[in-house]
Amino acid sequence: MPAFSSRLRYGAVAQLFHWTTVVLVITAYLLGEGGPQSRVYAPERAFTLSAHETLGVLVLLLTVLRLAWRAMDRTPDNIPMPRLMLIASRAVHGLLYVLLLALPLTAIFGAWFQGHPVTLFGGVLPIGPLTAVDGAFGNSLADVHGTLGNAILWVAGLHAAAALLHHFVMRDRVLMTMLPGRSATDA
Ligand code: HEM
Ligand code: HEM
Repeated sequence: MPAFSSRLRYGAVAQLFHWTTVVLVITAYLLGEGGPQSRVYAPERAFTLSAHETLGVLVLLLTVLRLAWRAMDRTPDNIPMPRLMLIASRAVHGLLYVLLLALPLTAIFGAWFQGHPVTLFGGVLPIGPLTAVDGAFGNSLADVHGTLGNAILWVAGLHAAAALLHHFVMRDRVLMTMLPGRSATDA
């Protein structure tokens, strides 16, 4: 499969970014836990929290690289569909990118403003706090992070449902553009 996207399909690199992000976001979501700081930062939860933070930071790095790659790559041609549906799909993609950036950033700055380091790889790599400590602001950011964490699941769920609707009901190629394939005619 070619690295770059074609008129018919996202390329291998764009697909790898997409599907790796899906796995990381879902796993980070499952490991994310709210509640008071005494619970979030309890020593017996340290490993789970670090796994959550590591996956989330990877999502941030991947998203930055993905957007850089997207700027150099093309995107597949629009598939014929009602104009409003096309606009809605582009809006949802934009919103997903915003969430993929805002979700880790609110968490990282939330933790730092609360006075906690971000601990990567099971605590091997603690980073920060690299900001001043302001508990109230940190708590607000942590709250926003929790809300955005739930929001991305809903938006991504809607996005996935739309992809399946295109495939099984409208019977167009939308889903195929994000699945591996070789030739220009294997629609
Ligand atoms: C795609 C990435 C991420 C997703 C989907 C995600 C999702 C979540 C969810 C659903 C919660 C539970 C919120 C609640 O029930 O109140 C949570 C909490 C938390 N996450 Fe993330 N998260 C991500 C990235 C990160 C990153 C990069 C960090 C690094 C600092 C982080 C640190 C935290 C912390 C510290 C909490 C506890 C928040 C609190 O104080 O209430 N998360 N996350
Ligand atoms: C956490 C979950 C997900 C996130 C964050 C996500 C994010 C995105 C983003 C940002 C794009 C736009 C790509 C671009 O043009 O740069 C996209 C495209 C796409 N995604 Fe997802 N996605 C997720 C899950 C899924 C799932 C589960 C499916 C399939 C059931 C799916 C199917 C697609 C398809 C078919 C496209 C191409 C649509 C088009 O270009 O019109 N996605 N996704």
